[in-house]
Amino acid sequence: MTWSVGAGLQGRGVIVTGAAGGMGRPVAEAFATTGARVMAVDLHQDAADEVVADLEGPGHVGVGIDLADLAAQEELIARAQRELGGVYALAHLAAVLRRRGSVDDVTEDDWDFQVDTNLKATFFLCRAAANAMRAGGQGGRIIAFTSQGWWTGGFGGSVVYCASKGGIVSMVRGLARTYGPDQITVNAVSPGQVNTSMLMTDLDPAVYQQMLEATPLGRVAEPHEMAGTVVFLASQHAGFISGATINVSGAMLMY
Ligand SMILES: NC(=O)c1ccc[n+]([C@@H]2O[C@H](COP(=O)([O-])OP(=O)(O)OC[C@H]3O[C@@H](n4cnc5c(N)ncnc54)[C@H](O)[C@@H]3O)[C@@H](O)[C@H]2O)c1
Repeated sequence: MTWSVGAGLQGRGVIVTGAAGGMGRPVAEAFATTGARVMAVDLHQDAADEVVADLEGPGHVGVGIDLADLAAQEELIARAQRELGGVYALAHLAAVLRRRGSVDDVTEDDWDFQVDTNLKATFFLCRAAANAMRAGGQGGRIIAFTSQGWWTGGFGGSVVYCASKGGIVSMVRGLARTYGPDQITVNAVSPGQVNTSMLMTDLDPAVYQQMLEATPLGRVAEPHEMAGTVVFLASQHAGFISGATINVSGAMLMY
């Protein structure tokens, strides 16, 4: 056995969603260093292509699609099977947050947008990816992204986002049970506060200060600090980890 964080990923097909985002980009970069072939997926083709242009090694592909479009998801998985030679891992980071001042400001559209993107799209994408992994016959890895809000429930206007992320934890547990017999592991990564546009856009400086005080490490994470956990979960070293929610929060919460 090779002892390195990305062992077993050489030549494998890996899909990274939200790849042009704060954490998705370093996750795609980290996978590329393992020798995996990366399909970098985000809303816009040019942004996905930009990520691919910077990846180490050959065989990577950029795809611009809206993952909330379920028909486009099917085409994405078919393309990954053709162009990467199979799907071994899915690292699904794409998600949206609509910050609202109070729970009374939340609209039906806010609910639909966040739940459709964060939860509904995740279910159908994970299922399509798992079927491709089953077809490959070599097992697989699904890594979804939740948030500490799955545990806390958030507050006021962030309740909808947090509910969608709570759904991810439940779903990961059910999918881990479903796909275990095919040697497909399913896990969630739960970041604390991470320095990306999702966190920093419209963030009240007083709330930011409270976040620092609530985090024993005394800082927010940098986006690349999530990538090692994701690559490890996709590696051969993590073959018996399934149904887990990995807390990467700088001790903000402990579970
Ligand atoms: N930043 C944080 O502090 C934090 C904390 C906890 C959890 N998270 C979670 O971590 C993950 C990564 O977050 P981030 O901070 O890198 O966010 P980000 O906003 O920087 O990146 C998210 C990416 O997803 C893409 N995306 C959104 N909707 C899409 C769709 N329908 N189809 C395709 N692509 C779509 C966006 O274009 C963007 O590039 C998310 O699941 C987020 O909920 C973030």
